[in-house]
Amino acid sequence: MKLRDVLKLVRLRKFERSPTQRLLNRVVLADDFRTIARRRLPRAVFDYVDGGADEEITMRANREAFASRRLHPRLLRDVSVVDLHGEIFGQEFRKPIGLSPTGYTRMMHPTGEISACRAAMDAGVPYTLSTVATTTIEEVAATGHPNLWFQLYITGDHRLSDPLVDRAAAAGYKALEVTIDTAVTGRRSRDARNGLAIPPQLSVRTIFDIARHPRYWMRMLTNPAIEFANFQALTPEELASASTTVNSALFDPTLNWAHITEVRARWKGPLLLKGPIGPEDARRALELGVDGFHVSNHGGRQLDRCVPTADLIMPLRAAVGPGVPIVVDSGVHTGGDIAVALALGADMAFIGRAYVYALAAAGERGVAHLLRMLTAELRSVMQLSGLTSLSQFRKEGADLLSGP
Ligand SMILES: Cc1cc2nc3c(=O)[nH]c(=O)nc-3n(C[C@H](O)[C@H](O)[C@H](O)COP(=O)(O)O)c2cc1C
Repeated sequence: MKLRDVLKLVRLRKFERSPTQRLLNRVVLADDFRTIARRRLPRAVFDYVDGGADEEITMRANREAFASRRLHPRLLRDVSVVDLHGEIFGQEFRKPIGLSPTGYTRMMHPTGEISACRAAMDAGVPYTLSTVATTTIEEVAATGHPNLWFQLYITGDHRLSDPLVDRAAAAGYKALEVTIDTAVTGRRSRDARNGLAIPPQLSVRTIFDIARHPRYWMRMLTNPAIEFANFQALTPEELASASTTVNSALFDPTLNWAHITEVRARWKGPLLLKGPIGPEDARRALELGVDGFHVSNHGGRQLDRCVPTADLIMPLRAAVGPGVPIVVDSGVHTGGDIAVALALGADMAFIGRAYVYALAAAGERGVAHLLRMLTAELRSVMQLSGLTSLSQFRKEGADLLSGP
């Protein structure tokens, strides 16, 4: 080959002017966002997102459990048109993906919850706001997202959590999910090592870290303070102790079934339980009027050695039957993971850390890019497996899979 022939093969890409777009052009897998977030965030903040409980056994097992499943493709089917639409609790979604609740989201990006919510709205997927969000229930509702979910921690002092249920109803949230794997707080080893506390405490190491991430700190200092936004409607006295009250009351060791009965009476819309739910607990929940399940082990942030969520889906589906909505999270970070979750019997897969990294890397555009990427991955996995609609996952179910 002559030099002239080689040059013909080389086509220089047009220079991209927007730095954000340049960054997004380099992101081809969700984990690329993690690498960027790791560079951009102070160590303690990155570790708060990235870390799990104790030895992080469950956190790793979550991903392995999805990765260890293998798909058995069906061939020679026309896969030119793929339909990713579906419906949950009477609301349509454009792809079977949702955003899980994450607390303190503005610590990772100043426009935190609003940006994540807008990206979800544009993609036509549900967004779940956390009890310990740094943006209020009403501000998030003002985005106009038609399918918002609210995540509830039932606080020991019901004066804190009851009004949140009423506010979510008044603001038009479509579903309420009660997190039930937090009777006590998980022991996050990285946070303990980093001395992470909320509000943050300044140690010599933190000050060095600030010096290494001036852009992060400038952004934080020029934006409103990070606080438990949804508890700001309390009286001044309650407010004064809110930080400690919320922190200690969030993890109420007396949490039990009677609490679920109370929430069921208060919230008229679809009610889910969020946790590592097994068949027996699920049957009891259905008797109490619970409508669906968000299978989750908090991304390995609560009980270390908890069973990975991929292993929970099939027995749960068998116990509750085909009509009860099941969504799953913890370890989902590719379209292949989503396909496995659906083949195991889930209706949708939700993501946690993956979108928080995308947010930290590039705000709303980052989350939008991630959702497009996951959708493209899922579509490709489906086409290569001979599947063209979500209902086929349920029909062919376990026949599509092998693995542990
Ligand atoms: C930074 C962070 C904050 C979280 N905050 C909450 C929360 O406030 N309420 C809750 O129910 N789950 C919370 N979770 C758990 C997520 O909702 C979700 O279950 C978990 O992230 C899923 O695992 P994955 O990160 O592997 O996708 C949080 C997770 C992360 C990473």
